[in-house]
Amino acid sequence: MKMISLLLLILSSCLCATFVVNVTQSSYEAEENHSITLEWTFTTRTQGNWRNLFVICEFTTLLKNGTIYVHRDGVEFPGSQDDQFSGRVQIDKDVLREGRIRLHVSRLRTEDSGLYLCDVKTEDGLNTAFCRLNVSAAADQLQPPTENLQPDSRGRIGVYVSLGLFVLTVIYVSFQFLKSKLGRKC
Ligand SMILES: *[C@@H]1O[C@H](CO)[C@@H](O)[C@H](O)[C@H]1NC(C)=O
Ligand SMILES: *[C@@H]1O[C@H](CO)[C@@H](O)[C@H](O)[C@H]1NC(C)=O
Ligand SMILES: *[C@@H]1O[C@H](CO)[C@@H](O)[C@H](O)[C@H]1NC(C)=O
Ligand SMILES: *[C@@H]1O[C@H](CO)[C@@H](O)[C@H](O)[C@H]1NC(C)=O
Repeated sequence: MKMISLLLLILSSCLCATFVVNVTQSSYEAEENHSITLEWTFTTRTQGNWRNLFVICEFTTLLKNGTIYVHRDGVEFPGSQDDQFSGRVQIDKDVLREGRIRLHVSRLRTEDSGLYLCDVKTEDGLNTAFCRLNVSAAADQLQPPTENLQPDSRGRIGVYVSLGLFVLTVIYVSFQFLKSKLGRKC
């Protein structure tokens, strides 16, 4: 019994000391050309201190893998950023000190859809968390009138075909009927 409680104590103190990175949302939905803020939180002990804070955020999409954001001790490294995101990413530096990564991505493209992960390293440890982003094509590009027209015209074709078949059947049946009548007379 004593052993178990000792083990629990060690385990819980280990858990408390563990350096954690969380996502506030595991998946995001957005529309093309809109913007979005992806958010991570991480354990902080020394609030308002940049000492030994290293953040690297990466992406994996259907087309490629790359780096979207790098930050070390208060300094950003835009040169490490993949061209796909150049001029479209901003981070809130003030909340970064408080253990929040707020990655703002603007003018979203459908090919931005994918996984986004941030690795965070501080004096307390290293951890990572990822979220999913789904950017759908803008509504006016889906052309709803065309889409609505297709099932409609297909339905109309169906009606014409059935009508034609019906008429043909009537003609055939009448013809057979007449033939049998005439045949009996002859
Ligand atoms: C991470 O998530 C866990 C479980 O939801 C929570 O207890 C913890 O406080 C979070 N930590 C941070 C740094 O956000
Ligand atoms: C992304 O990286 C992984 C591992 O490095 C690799 O297996 C995969 O093919 C890459 N994907 C693309 C689309 O480049
Ligand atoms: C992305 O969003 C579109 C439109 O809302 C949806 O049809 C699709 O299933 C979503 N894809 C994923 C991987 O969630
Ligand atoms: C998105 O923005 C680009 C550049 O501003 C523009 O050319 C394009 O038409 C926009 N697409 C939609 C669907 O609004």
